[in-house]
Amino acid sequence: MTKVLAIGDVMGKAGRRCLDDFLPKLREEHSPDIVIVNGENAAGGFGLTEKIYNEFIQNHRIDAVTMGNHWHDKREIFEFMKRTDRLVLPANMGNVEQEDMGLRILTAQNGIRFAVINCIGRAFMREGNRDIFKTVDKLLDHIPSSVRIRIIDIHAEATSEKQALGWYVAGRASLVYGTHSHVPTADERIFNGKTGFCTDLGMTGAYNSVIGIETGAAIHRLLTGEKKKFEPATADPRLYAIIADIDDDSGHCKSIRRLRYQLDD
Ligand SMILES: [Fe+2]
Ligand SMILES: [Fe+2]
Repeated sequence: MTKVLAIGDVMGKAGRRCLDDFLPKLREEHSPDIVIVNGENAAGGFGLTEKIYNEFIQNHRIDAVTMGNHWHDKREIFEFMKRTDRLVLPANMGNVEQEDMGLRILTAQNGIRFAVINCIGRAFMREGNRDIFKTVDKLLDHIPSSVRIRIIDIHAEATSEKQALGWYVAGRASLVYGTHSHVPTADERIFNGKTGFCTDLGMTGAYNSVIGIETGAAIHRLLTGEKKKFEPATADPRLYAIIADIDDDSGHCKSIRRLRYQLDD
């Protein structure tokens, strides 16, 4: 059995502090074999730098970093992405030219090989994202049949798209979860007894906020339409994740649980 821990969108400094504070404790309590984080908001709320990517991989021993619509907000990623082997981009996003950047086949600490796919929704998202279902079909076809553990991060606004993808790949993927909304959903379950699913992991960051952004600035923009620079909030930091047991031979999900860590826990 392989234990997979998937951590929701790490938002700015507060989110990174949550990894520093809670990930060692979480490893001790749950002994995950594979740890995946969504890193699209890790650098100041928008994008990812090479320094933070390296911190994730080297200091936190994270096995894969998935992204989302903010993947390119820090322009340096166009350069350092060539040097990464654990970064996964949203395969069908309009500005991701190479779809194969949305699939990585990696080796976990227990020696087991696993595949990670990152894809992006189309509803209420930027125009130009390509068909999710066809893209995921293609990427799943690229995974050798010997790789049984197959994980998909669907980065989408619409809960319906996330659930539809989960059912679409039921039996063909081990674990499907949503990211992007920054709000955790309480619907973790196993589709057809095979594919672990949760509509959204939730954010790892400051919850005294509007989806991670300082509340005053968020309300001001909604009230006035004025676009002042958004800063990530800092108060009430929490880490949200799911942990799933995957059978090594069948690749089927045997259990899935939500996890939440916050300072007063
Ligand atoms: Fe996000
Ligand atoms: Fe996003």
